Amino acid sequence: MQSACAHKDNLHLAIIMDGNGRWASRRGLPRTAGHHAGVAAVRRVMDAAPALGVSTVTLFAFSSDNWRRPTEEVAALMLLLQAYLRSERRRLVENEVRLSVIGRRDRLDGRLLRQIEQVEQATASMRRLHLRVALDYSSRDAILQAVARLSTEDRPSRESFGRLISQATADDALEVDLLVRTGGEKRLSDFLLWESAYAELWFTDKMWPDFGPADLQEAIAEFRGRDRRFGGLSSVAQVSPAVRAAAG
Ligand code: FPP
Repeated sequence: MQSACAHKDNLHLAIIMDGNGRWASRRGLPRTAGHHAGVAAVRRVMDAAPALGVSTVTLFAFSSDNWRRPTEEVAALMLLLQAYLRSERRRLVENEVRLSVIGRRDRLDGRLLRQIEQVEQATASMRRLHLRVALDYSSRDAILQAVARLSTEDRPSRESFGRLISQATADDALEVDLLVRTGGEKRLSDFLLWESAYAELWFTDKMWPDFGPADLQEAIAEFRGRDRRFGGLSSVAQVSPAVRAAAG
C-alpha cells in the first residue's frame, strides 16, 4: 500500500535556511560569507526542485525578528537580497520561475523595494515554479493582521480566515506540504504557522550553505514515505482487514 504522499504533485516546500553564520564561523570567515554561500545553496535547490515534484518553494530569508541583529549584518543581508534580485532576474525568466515576496514591505529600503517590484512584474506570468521569499516576515503578525480585519459579526471559516492571512502576507496562504529546517535546530520560529498546520516536518543538522539537491531529494523521499492522515485514519487502516489480507 502506497502512502498518501507518494504521488502528491505540486508540493509546497517551505525552508528555514538556518546555519549560515555557524558555517562561516567554523571556517574563520565573517558571518556574511555564510549568507553569500547561502545564496548559492538557494540556486542549487531551486534548480533541483521542479524535477522532484515541487511547484512552490517558500524561503525564510529575513524574519521580522532579524531586525534585532547587528546593523552591519542586516545591511549586508539587504544588499545581498538586492544583488540576488538584480543578478537573478534573467535566470528566473529563463527557468520560468515566478518570484514573489511575502511579508511587510513598509520597512524595506526603497531600492530593494523597487528591485522586488521589478522582478515580481518580470516573472508574474512564469508557471514552472513559484519562489516565494519571506522578507520582514512574521507569521504571528500576519495572523494578528488578519484578526484585525475581522468585523465583530464575522464567523470566519478556515478558508475565509486563510484569505485574510493571504492579504496580510501579500500572497496566497498556501498549505505547506513539507517544511525543511537546516542547521540542527528544531523549531518553527514564527514561519508559516497557519499554513503549516498539517505540514510534514524534516530537520537536518547540515548548515544551509552545505544543503544541496541530494539533501532535498532525501527530504522529499522521506515525505513521500509518510502517511498524512490530516486527523483521519491512515490509508492502510481504512481498508478492511479482509481486503488487506487478500492484498497480502
Ligand atoms: C539564518 O542563518 C539565515 C538567515 C537569517 C538569512 C538567510 C538568507 C540567505 C540564505 C541569503 C539570501 C536569500 C535568498 C532568498 C536569496 P543564521 O545567520 O541565523 O545562522 P546561525 O544560526 O548559524 O547564526
